[in-house]
Amino acid sequence: MVASDEANASAEITRARVNYAVPGLAEEDVAETPLSQFSKWLTEAQMANVPEPNAMSLATSGPEGPQVRVVLAKDIDEYGVTFFTNLDSVKAQDLAQDSRAAAVFAWLAQHRQVRLRGSVVPLDRDVAAEYFATRARGAQIGAWASPQSEVISSRAELVERIRQIEERFPEDAPVPLPDRWGGYRIKPVAIEFWQGQPSRLHDRIRFQSRQADARLDDASAWKSERLAP
Ligand SMILES: Cc1cc2nc3c(=O)[nH]c(=O)nc-3n(C[C@H](O)[C@H](O)[C@H](O)COP(=O)(O)O)c2cc1C
Repeated sequence: MVASDEANASAEITRARVNYAVPGLAEEDVAETPLSQFSKWLTEAQMANVPEPNAMSLATSGPEGPQVRVVLAKDIDEYGVTFFTNLDSVKAQDLAQDSRAAAVFAWLAQHRQVRLRGSVVPLDRDVAAEYFATRARGAQIGAWASPQSEVISSRAELVERIRQIEERFPEDAPVPLPDRWGGYRIKPVAIEFWQGQPSRLHDRIRFQSRQADARLDDASAWKSERLAP
């Protein structure tokens, strides 16, 4: 980008305005439980062809302060939201120190976001193994080969690591779960459903848990409130 392009891009961002002329989120339309409201919106995002609607930005905090990155939610059920990653990555190190995390799903085509926060627990190894077995072989090899979040000298180093791992696991045999790869579950204590509305008067409905380990399908375990936009 040359300097004038940068100036133009910056001016365009400053001017950019999207008016959210879509149906709002009224209290009477919100599902009784956070799980059914999430499922309804996720289905609508899928039907609207939102790219990777299960992608969420995941924030953790650690010695270098907060960090955020995108991961894929692989399951959302009454117990929480699960994702998989390298257990030596920055996010895993952060979570080992401070198990609290926050996440946001942004479904911008529908002017929606879902924010959640809660504590994160590691998934059992057998759950991770079961999921790992469903991944494409290339992704399995990659999980073995990539020291996620570490500095590497070049792409060639990564390619060489992959070659070595491919040699180690014969093509006709299953690739086992790497020791340093696994899953986590975010157990939300708050989930907010945000629907963009005209004139920035957006609808925000937040479920807050009334008790520890509130199941996302238990209406009595949550209270819902409207927040100012
Ligand atoms: C659409 C998308 C999906 C991703 N899904 C995952 C994922 O499920 N797990 C993962 O470890 N990294 C995933 N990543 C890569 C992460 O954003 C990040 O680069 C990586 O996990 C290292 O993060 P960390 O150094 O903060 O631990 C994804 C990135 C994108 C853009």
